Amino acid sequence: VGQHGNKKTVTHGEVPRVVGLLLAMALMNVFLYFCLSQFFVSPRQSTEGLRLCPYGHFRMEQMRNCSPWLSCDELRTEVRQLKRVGEGAVKRVFLSEWKERKVALSRLTSLEMEDDFIHGLRMLKALQSKHVVTLLGYCEEDKTILTEYHPLGSLIHLEETLNLSKYQRVNTWQHRLRLAVDYVAIINYLHRSPLGTLVMCDSNDLPKTLSQYLLTSNFSIVANDLDALPLVNHSAGIFVKCGHRELHGDFVAPEQLWPHGEHMPFHDDLMPSYDEKIDIWKVPDVFSFLLGHVEGSDMVRFHLFDIHKACKSQAPKDRPTAQEVLDTYQKVLQSLGDAVSSQTREML
Ligand SMILES: Nc1ncnc2c1ncn2[C@@H]1O[C@H](COP(=O)(O)OP(=O)(O)OP(=O)(O)O)[C@@H](O)[C@H]1O
Ligand SMILES: *[C@@H]1O[C@H](CO)[C@@H](O)[C@H](O)[C@H]1NC(C)=O
Ligand SMILES: *[C@@H]1O[C@H](CO)[C@@H](O)[C@H](O)[C@H]1NC(C)=O
Ligand SMILES: *[C@@H]1O[C@H](CO)[C@@H](O)[C@H](O)[C@H]1NC(C)=O
Repeated sequence: VGQHGNKKTVTHGEVPRVVGLLLAMALMNVFLYFCLSQFFVSPRQSTEGLRLCPYGHFRMEQMRNCSPWLSCDELRTEVRQLKRVGEGAVKRVFLSEWKERKVALSRLTSLEMEDDFIHGLRMLKALQSKHVVTLLGYCEEDKTILTEYHPLGSLIHLEETLNLSKYQRVNTWQHRLRLAVDYVAIINYLHRSPLGTLVMCDSNDLPKTLSQYLLTSNFSIVANDLDALPLVNHSAGIFVKCGHRELHGDFVAPEQLWPHGEHMPFHDDLMPSYDEKIDIWKVPDVFSFLLGHVEGSDMVRFHLFDIHKACKSQAPKDRPTAQEVLDTYQKVLQSLGDAVSSQTREML
């Protein structure tokens, strides 16, 4: 389009029309903005459909509407504690009953751990999503937290659960690779959370790492224990340390180990801090546990060999992001799934 075609002299009579047109366009923009923001401001919510409740509310299975989080009063009078189902350094967890539903009531174990408890609660409130256990209520005064109960417990019990005849049908590489997808999706969510880049610090060995996640009845994974999620901010030069003690072994990332040799005793002040890539280093080990040894799992391991090798890069910056690992898992799940189903078709 030539310059002249666009250039029109505006006569007096046209001015109100032009203004009117501009106003209409402006209004249209505002309208479009509000319409589109419904869909694009939080893409995570749009993929979850109507399941999510507004902040401060929850909905469990078979609940029609969202309810506000239970208050201290409601927790004291409406929740009946049944039996202890777990205990960690920070919380003692009881299977409990609320309105004929099973729920999990967590109580602070000792006042020394109060800071972790409060941090965990703050994270639980801020990170409610399909990746995190559903919060039903809390009482800071009593140091209690009420969450959805997951009878299959933490990921530690995965192998035993899959060994039960009831669950044999899901003990396949497909279902187990989907669990790995869930796991990396959680790490990815934490690394790109609404609060910034959060590191899963409660993960100095495999059993500890597994105990932070729950297996849901429909075989997906949710993060449960968010007591140790420090914030990394690359642009502000803020890095983290997971605890103040010396770490050993090769489950933790190499940058988490004391770098100054045996001749120099460990000193927390001299220990360098690190970033979220420590979570990526641990992914292949968690993956290997989740995938286990079933028919077809060696084939899956083979297809993920390169990405897992990259996760184990010595230099944190050489490791892929959680998003890159997630994309690779999903691609392999898709391509192997397709290959298997076309093989099955050929057999028929
Ligand atoms: N909602 C739940 N449903 C079923 N079991 C649960 C639930 N919440 C916790 N548990 C069980 O209780 C255990 C301890 O819970 P949690 O990890 O929250 O305690 P913690 O004191 O924070 O642990 P840590 O020592 O890792 O900090 C879990 O590993 C799990 O086995
Ligand atoms: C699985 O079950 C079999 C018997 O049904 C038992 O021998 C085996 O030890 C179980 N394995 C695990 C990991 O629980
Ligand atoms: C990270 O630091 C930058 C610069 O100090 C700041 O603008 C930004 O808000 C911080 N991000 C988070 C998530 O705290
Ligand atoms: C599986 O269960 C979890 C928690 O109970 C729920 O959030 C999720 O929507 C369920 N997924 C499917 C596919 O039903």
